[in-house]
This record gives sequence, C-alpha cells and structure tokens, in this order.
Amino acid sequence: MFASITLKGAALLRRVEQSKRVGRRIRVALTALLLPLVVGSAASVDSPENGSVAESRIVGGVPASTADHPWMAALTTPNGDLYCGGALVAPDKVVTAAHCLVLPSEQGVRVKSRTDVRVVVGRTDLRTTEGVQAGVRSIWVHPRYSSFVEGEDVAVITLDRRIDAPTATLVGHGDERLYSPGTPATTMGWGRTSENGATSATLRSLDLPMIADADCARSYPEYDPAAMVCAGYLEGGRDACAGDSGGPLIVEGRVVGLVSWGDGCAREGSPGVYTRLLEYRSLLAHQTGV
Ligand code: ARG
Repeated sequence: MFASITLKGAALLRRVEQSKRVGRRIRVALTALLLPLVVGSAASVDSPENGSVAESRIVGGVPASTADHPWMAALTTPNGDLYCGGALVAPDKVVTAAHCLVLPSEQGVRVKSRTDVRVVVGRTDLRTTEGVQAGVRSIWVHPRYSSFVEGEDVAVITLDRRIDAPTATLVGHGDERLYSPGTPATTMGWGRTSENGATSATLRSLDLPMIADADCARSYPEYDPAAMVCAGYLEGGRDACAGDSGGPLIVEGRVVGLVSWGDGCAREGSPGVYTRLLEYRSLLAHQTGV
C-alpha cells in the first residue's frame, strides 16, 4: 500500500521532470478524450466482408466469434454505437476500463450516467440483435482514477439484469508468471482496424506477446509497472486501437489486463498499454464477488 503510493509519487515527479515529453503526453491524452466521442458517433461500417483493407482489424488481427468468447462484452451508447469492450466476470458484473465510464470535468473526472451505457454480450456482429443486451444498475470506477496515463484504469459495471452466459476468469493471486515477457496473450474487440479507420462491426482478435517492463518504459515515460503492462509488437503493425478499450488481455484463459492506452495504434515503438489487473485483484474481488 505505502510502497505503491511512494512509487506513484515518484512516478508523478518523474513525469513533471519530463516536461519535454509533455507535447506527446497531451497528444495521447487528447486522443483519449476525443476518440470515444468520435468512435461513438461513427457508424460501424468497416465490414470485414469487403476485404479491401490489407493490414486491418483490431489492427492486424483476425475474425473472432463470441461463440468462443461468450463473456466478451461490448459497451455501446443508447443508440447502439460501440465505444468500448469489457468482460463479463459474473452474471451481473462487467470489468472494463475506467476511462470508458468517465467524462472529463473541472474536478478531474465525473462518472457517466448509467443511462448512457448499454452492455451487449454474445453478439459477434454488432449489426445484428444476436445475444443479449443489458442496462446498467451502477458503476464503480477506481477511486484514484484520473487519466489512463496515471494508471488505475479499471471499473466495474453492475448490470440491471443477470446474463446467463459463461463468465471470464480473472487473473488470480499467484499468477505473476502470466506477465512474463514473451508469454503469448490475446486481446479482442470491435475497435478501429487502423489508427484513423472505422471501428469493426464484427469482433476481431489479436495474438500478441507480453512485453518486458524495461521495453515498455523505453516506449513510454508515463509507463508505471505497478499499474500497467505492455503487450504487442515493438515493430508495429498489430495492436489494439480506439474502441477496444476496456476489452480483455487474456493469458492462459485468464483476463490479466484491459486495453487502456497507446500512442496512436500499431505504431513502431509504441505497443499497447494494458491495465495490470493483478494489481487490482482484491479490489475487484470486493466489487465483483469473484
Ligand atoms: N484508449 C483508446 C480507447 O479509448 C485506445 C486504447 C488502445 N490503444 C492502443 N494503441 N493499444 O479505445
């Protein structure tokens, strides 16, 4: 507890010293604030059937089915526009990123109104009515969340109904080895299939290796190994992207991370940063009952 606060303080000081990096930090932060709006209003038009975009989907991924990932959740606006992912971990609990559930405000952040969020499970193609949709009873956002580059990018939605689907398994105490560099992982979502492209109407998944803290820290001065973990490809080309946020990073069938942030998408030297869920395991147990 104290150790993590001290680390946090040190990380903040480091950040202040890195004023020359502020330009990029602002770019990353602005992308974060603006993208959910843009994504939310864009129609999900990048049909995978048109086959015209060579290096696309999630970015560089392959088609996936909710039949194989029955707990994979899409967060949508009341109009049905996708803006984030999540994981059903109990019949009425969805784990997602904090930044999917807050709005910027003068005091830092404000939690979205529960009526602004819908949760869809079991719908590979968001243009269909397959699967089930639920509304939101309540939203818990990590109390110290302020922006994803500062960590604590985790939240839990309590649904207004129970969804009868297999649930995802969260990383457990003692699962540290799942974060070892090079370990094969998978992420998925309906997010953009290129940095400035449209979101995908259909679920896409991407296999990617876990990345060492030292490599991630070289990519991002904001990287905090006590709250985040990187996964992906330093050479670029394959990555999660806007709209995938809150979706899972899976290792050996366990959700070890949540899509959180990155500098653009799939750029060389800028892998995806994920919420390090093991760090929040006790809080999540308390919030989800699992
Ligand atoms: N934060 C963005 C969102 O709201 C995208 C996060 C992932 N970015 C990345 N390059 N891996 O969806």
